[in-house]
Amino acid sequence: MLETVLRRDQDFGTPAITRALKQVSLQIDGQTIQVPEGTSIMRAASMLGLNIPKLCATDSLEPFGSCRLCLVQIEGRRGYPASCTTLAEEGMVVTTENKRLADLRRHVMELYISEHPLDCLTCSANGNCELQETAGQVGLRQIRFDGYDKTQANKTSDNSNPYFTFNPDLCIVCNRCVRSCEETQGTFALTVDGRGFESQISTGLNTNFKDSDCVSCGACVTACPTGALMDNSVIQMGQPNHAVITTCAYCGVGCGLKAELKGEELVRMTPWKNGKANEGHACVKGRFAWGYATHPDRITTPMIRASINEPWRKVSWEEAINYAAGEIKRIQAKYGKNSVGAISSSRCSNEEVYLVQKTVRAALGNNNIDTCARVCHSPTGFGLKQTLGESAGTQTFESVTDSDVILVMGANPTDAHPVFGSRLKKRLRQGAKLIVIDPRTISLVSTAHAKADYHLPLKPGTNVAMLNAFAHTIISEGLQNKAFIAGRCDSDTFKEWLEFILLDENSPESAATITGVPAQTIREAARLFATGGKAAIYYGLGVTEHSQGSTAVMAIANLAMITGNIGISGVGVNPLRGQNNVQGSCDMGSFPHEFPGYRHVSDAATRKQLEQAWQVKLDANPGLRIPNMFNAAISGTFKGLYCQGEDILQSDPNTQHVEAALTNLECLIVQDLFLNETAKYAHVFLPGASFLEKDGTFTNAERRISRIRKVMRPKSGMADWEITQALSNALGYPMQYENPSEIMDEIARLTPTFASVNYAHIDKMGGSVQWPCNPQNPEGTPIMHIDSFPHGKGTFVPTQYIPTSERTNKRFPLILTTGRILTQYNVGAQTRRTGNTAWHEEDLLEIHPHDASDRGIENGDIVQIASRVGQIAMKAKVSTRVQPGVVYTTFHHPVSGSNVITTDNADWATSCPEYKVTAVQISKVENYASEWQDHWASTDKKQHDFLKSAESGTHEHT
Ligand code: SF4
Ligand code: SF4
Ligand code: SF4
Ligand code: FES
Repeated sequence: MLETVLRRDQDFGTPAITRALKQVSLQIDGQTIQVPEGTSIMRAASMLGLNIPKLCATDSLEPFGSCRLCLVQIEGRRGYPASCTTLAEEGMVVTTENKRLADLRRHVMELYISEHPLDCLTCSANGNCELQETAGQVGLRQIRFDGYDKTQANKTSDNSNPYFTFNPDLCIVCNRCVRSCEETQGTFALTVDGRGFESQISTGLNTNFKDSDCVSCGACVTACPTGALMDNSVIQMGQPNHAVITTCAYCGVGCGLKAELKGEELVRMTPWKNGKANEGHACVKGRFAWGYATHPDRITTPMIRASINEPWRKVSWEEAINYAAGEIKRIQAKYGKNSVGAISSSRCSNEEVYLVQKTVRAALGNNNIDTCARVCHSPTGFGLKQTLGESAGTQTFESVTDSDVILVMGANPTDAHPVFGSRLKKRLRQGAKLIVIDPRTISLVSTAHAKADYHLPLKPGTNVAMLNAFAHTIISEGLQNKAFIAGRCDSDTFKEWLEFILLDENSPESAATITGVPAQTIREAARLFATGGKAAIYYGLGVTEHSQGSTAVMAIANLAMITGNIGISGVGVNPLRGQNNVQGSCDMGSFPHEFPGYRHVSDAATRKQLEQAWQVKLDANPGLRIPNMFNAAISGTFKGLYCQGEDILQSDPNTQHVEAALTNLECLIVQDLFLNETAKYAHVFLPGASFLEKDGTFTNAERRISRIRKVMRPKSGMADWEITQALSNALGYPMQYENPSEIMDEIARLTPTFASVNYAHIDKMGGSVQWPCNPQNPEGTPIMHIDSFPHGKGTFVPTQYIPTSERTNKRFPLILTTGRILTQYNVGAQTRRTGNTAWHEEDLLEIHPHDASDRGIENGDIVQIASRVGQIAMKAKVSTRVQPGVVYTTFHHPVSGSNVITTDNADWATSCPEYKVTAVQISKVENYASEWQDHWASTDKKQHDFLKSAESGTHEHT
């Protein structure tokens, strides 16, 4: 059912009522139905299969009652009320069709159509237009009025947005777009200008969609019942004719999407209404930025070369795989078993990641497997395991609907997790309180119709001091949840922690000197957190990517436990995971010390189970983490790396160090879509498949396992799991999976938290299920730790603040912190190959006006950023979003080299790099030519020339 669905889902007209206290029973056209109190007559009728004509209503939006097409007759009531705004009542008797209603509706429709151009045959919405369908539904046969020329003349289309066009000629002013922007997206970019016949949709005075507040989420386009707001791809290609449900491959929200196609050609992506992570919403990336999948830069033929100073040679799959396997075997024979390893991709599916780690452990015979979580949320895995007993967030996204207080720390949800950001903003508009702990004034601090109650702009690197001061305030003022602590937490570790937290060094006064935030503000925010009702913590890389990342995660867990904010809806510890499948890649055993399901490699029982299943002896010693691999490569003991779908050269810190490591490898195998930065140093290129080209599952930040489905054949002929399988076979460890479903069955057999997961069960559960999903929790686990923690009681860990060694001084007086923006995604390999570049052509350095003027820097000037490890140059953007002393940039464009200046400092427990704190100096320069940027440009040219010559076939031999 989920594989191929109709283009338009059933629209019940008004939203479902999910929390009604009672049911009401009514009769509609002679049929009796029971619905939750608060349900509209329109929805109740729709549930009976009776589709009342409508235009302004749709079930993703609150009823508006403007079009008057949905009139019904109710026994004992005068007039003809609108069924979308009239609620079902006990004993009501409703008629939805009779002659009078039909006449009224036809008349209303006639008025609409009289103002509408009658060029349906050439309209892009033809065949999928609610206006057209409703005109047919009400039986409109003639139009006696001619309002079109008078009212609609001289209106011009707005095609400023790269992805959709607004044609006011086709607009019926139903307001669905305005309401989508307000209710679903929370941006309030649209308004209705004028009155009566003159009214029209507007993006504000003298502006267009592109330059307005619009964030291009597409909610208005999806909601528009006519062709007025239309995807450009549909205008160009025509209406799609079938659809496949899949899951977004960008961020950890994991939105359900509907790939709408003509044959194998993707026409558009729309948000899937029944996607539980997104409930019919998406952002500019998932909704529109899929063009990279068919971009001409895609490499679709395997390539090999003996040296990175030689051109590529296009070869068959067989030759590439045999060459790669031969090289790995040669290196292991020469340098030992541990001289090779792999990095799995958090953009690939669970099944694919599972195979990569299995190949490392079973075919290479070591545990040298790591993943990009190393550089983002490895402290989450460690910190939550130590305290709450499980390496994952505790809630569903939907849980935020019940939160009274929301603490957002080191995360920027409106940019990095936009669909969750919209949910969060909705809850804020309903009155929830917000505390933002972030060095920058992120958008949430002041958003349309909602403001943070407290913004604590702490100095980068001082999270732990801030969190300790929150806990100190709560305990010293007796605001803790004593019952939860006594009933659910371990008393010994609590006692020890209590002594620690009451030390003066953890007081708000001490924290004020460390964080730069006044003690009184810290106290007030802490009191609000402890006493404001259900309090939820959402955090991101601004917490984890520090020398004390793991400590901060544990401090967050401590805070949730002392306030009893665990185990119910509306509370919890919620890491906002970055990549689409970073949770999954960790779950699948991508860490060098853990097998699938977070079981330590030294655990004999787990090893025995896997050894029996895999028929191979497993290493009991943890393998190398990514930074250890780099160090070992530089020292000459690590010589071969299989890197699946991760651009380590651009994404990992201290680029020059990474480059030195990659250059020292004798065989680097890169499996990717494009010649990314890492691939420029590769000897084998295995062309990967995009998420549109394969089946499998992704696991999002809520532990939600969702299906991805193949909508087109792999451009290279192989899905990524097939490539890994072929490599493993060539290495001598046999794998014979016929399809990803078989891999998932094996994962379920061998991983207790996945024991009941299989594709049929996921489909049965409505398309996704949250782990643990096993015989104890067959329907999955939306909220964790309800009655107890996996290890019984919650464990407190003292979290002493230790300042980072990365200090500012006269030479490097400013702190650089890095992050993402809405329209680009991580290293930008995907989004830079889409229309999203319209919003972010280059990385910019945000600098406070004071720091800028001290240095004679103005907006748009080119500046040099120098740190202890390197220098780069980029344009400055003078902004008060950063505080004095702090500068900020993104890392989406390789030419910027943002990670040339980040250092090797890392989290003490997990080696997660300290991206968020780099001491730098900024100075104005005349051009971009930093030494590194010159080097990058020449390497880039040389490697692209090598690629071109391989493509043109001018170099057939190495
Ligand atoms: S643009 Fe579409 S959704 Fe917006 S008012 Fe016009 S017809 Fe309605
Ligand atoms: S695309 Fe999204 S943000 Fe832009 S106007 Fe439409 S609903 Fe609003
Ligand atoms: S919020 Fe994340 S998962 Fe959803 S559409 Fe945007 S990028 Fe994709
Ligand atoms: S659908 Fe009810 S008034 Fe428009």
